[in-house]
Amino acid sequence: MEKDRKKFSGGRRYRNEDITVYWKPDACVHASYCYRELIEVFDPGRRPWVDMSGASTDRIIEVVNMCPTEALSWKWNDNERNLEVGPEHTNHIRFRRPELMGDEAEEPEAWEKPVSVRIMYDGPIIIKGDFILKYDGNTKEMRGGLISLCRCGASNKLPFCDGAHRKTGFEDI
Ligand code: SF4
Ligand code: FES
Repeated sequence: MEKDRKKFSGGRRYRNEDITVYWKPDACVHASYCYRELIEVFDPGRRPWVDMSGASTDRIIEVVNMCPTEALSWKWNDNERNLEVGPEHTNHIRFRRPELMGDEAEEPEAWEKPVSVRIMYDGPIIIKGDFILKYDGNTKEMRGGLISLCRCGASNKLPFCDGAHRKTGFEDI
């Protein structure tokens, strides 16, 4: 399988013969779906951390689509195929995710998205939807957004998760 790893503005990209996966570290909320689902491909302890030869293209697409942010996205190497892709490809590079872009922030009716809270095993709490977060005297309006709150206490960006739980080996009992 052809391997290719290059920088692009805002991150890195990784190729196999079928697809290119894009990685934007600034967008990652350390929700850990990628490496929990497919450590053979997404291994934060390895350099480079993405190995496109670790699984089939279908499986890589499936796991990239699980990423709740735009940190991971993908497209076909054959551009013709990109034109055929349907909306089920949630993290496909052609599909922006308006609910994460803040475009709706001025619209009062944007406060419609249900809030979901997910406690990640050995990791942060992920909160998604329309909500207001109050912390340390700050108020943050989240409209269709997603945040990741630290549960381990080791983050340097409290109350937000910065991925430190991995380094400290934080574990749920
Ligand atoms: S936000 Fe996406 S890239 Fe970051 S850990 Fe979660 S699944 Fe992986
Ligand atoms: S839970 Fe991620 S840094 Fe604490």
